[in-house]
Amino acid sequence: MTENNQLILKTYCEKIEEKLLDYTKDKNSPQGVIYEAMEYSLMAGGKRLRPVLMLEFCRMCGGDVSKYLDIACTIEMIHTFSLIHDDLPCMDDDDYRRGMPSCHKAFPESIALLAGDSLNTLAFEVIANAALEGRIEPDKAVMLISVLSRAVGSDGMIGGQVIDLESEGKEISIDTLDILQEHKTGALIEAACVMGVILGGDFDRIPAAANYASALGRAFQIIDDILDVTGSFEELGKPIGSDDEKQKSTYVSLLGLDKSKAVADELTQEALQHLEKFDDNDFLRDLTKDLLKRRS
Ligand code: IPE
Ligand code: IPE
Ligand code: MG
Ligand code: MG
Ligand code: MG
Repeated sequence: MTENNQLILKTYCEKIEEKLLDYTKDKNSPQGVIYEAMEYSLMAGGKRLRPVLMLEFCRMCGGDVSKYLDIACTIEMIHTFSLIHDDLPCMDDDDYRRGMPSCHKAFPESIALLAGDSLNTLAFEVIANAALEGRIEPDKAVMLISVLSRAVGSDGMIGGQVIDLESEGKEISIDTLDILQEHKTGALIEAACVMGVILGGDFDRIPAAANYASALGRAFQIIDDILDVTGSFEELGKPIGSDDEKQKSTYVSLLGLDKSKAVADELTQEALQHLEKFDDNDFLRDLTKDLLKRRS
């Protein structure tokens, strides 16, 4: 990434992180521990890819990103909820996340479960409140809630997690694996990009953003699968070899490392082509290429 684009990314992340802290202030309330657990996982230091995508699509579609930091936080809340639950003993049973003990290792399992639930509902509350306070048009808020709720639910991330769990210990086809990954990872990445276009108000570009996100989301999860084999705990901040241990079906288990890398490369090129439909796409081109080489 160029130095300038690195600075843009850093600035986006700082703004998102500053805003995220607004939502977990009530730690002295009787239920304060839930805010501690939510903040613990939110602030553990993710890449903030999804809110950055949302803000960048908003910007490329003519929106003023400084007005929508709260909406950008909603996709990070949902993503963090998905990770807290993903790590639970009844799911992937992973003890580390973002370089720190997983939420259920730092807090009781019951509180981790509820922190995930709470982040899920908070996201929708934030969007509704933005409309009630007159900061976004009510019809835009309804569109955002429709896109986000579908991406989270049984036809989105949660659906993908179900296929993922049901596929443990089985050999599934590449077609089923694609459906699994499009749901568990692609859905939230697509929602991030489409929500950005909605915020920018350039609705005709929704299909182009969705096509970009679909290719990027697939590449992103394939790289996650590759890093589970080739990465290190220090780089990733989460246990490596987790997929093999759980007998997960991944691109690497089905196609091997080399073919998986080739597919991720092809999908990244495809994503870059879809990005050509957007003017002023230099930052996102750079970020998209960088994600292919990522080590964390
Ligand atoms: C991890 O997502 C889970 C997947 C969908 C592969 P990220 O790699 O974006 O995790 P953070 O937010 O940077 O921790
Ligand atoms: C998780 O996929 C996707 C989610 C919906 C959270 P993984 O189980 O591969 O994610 P990591 O590797 O634990 O981050
Ligand atoms: Mg998982
Ligand atoms: Mg996992
Ligand atoms: Mg993984």
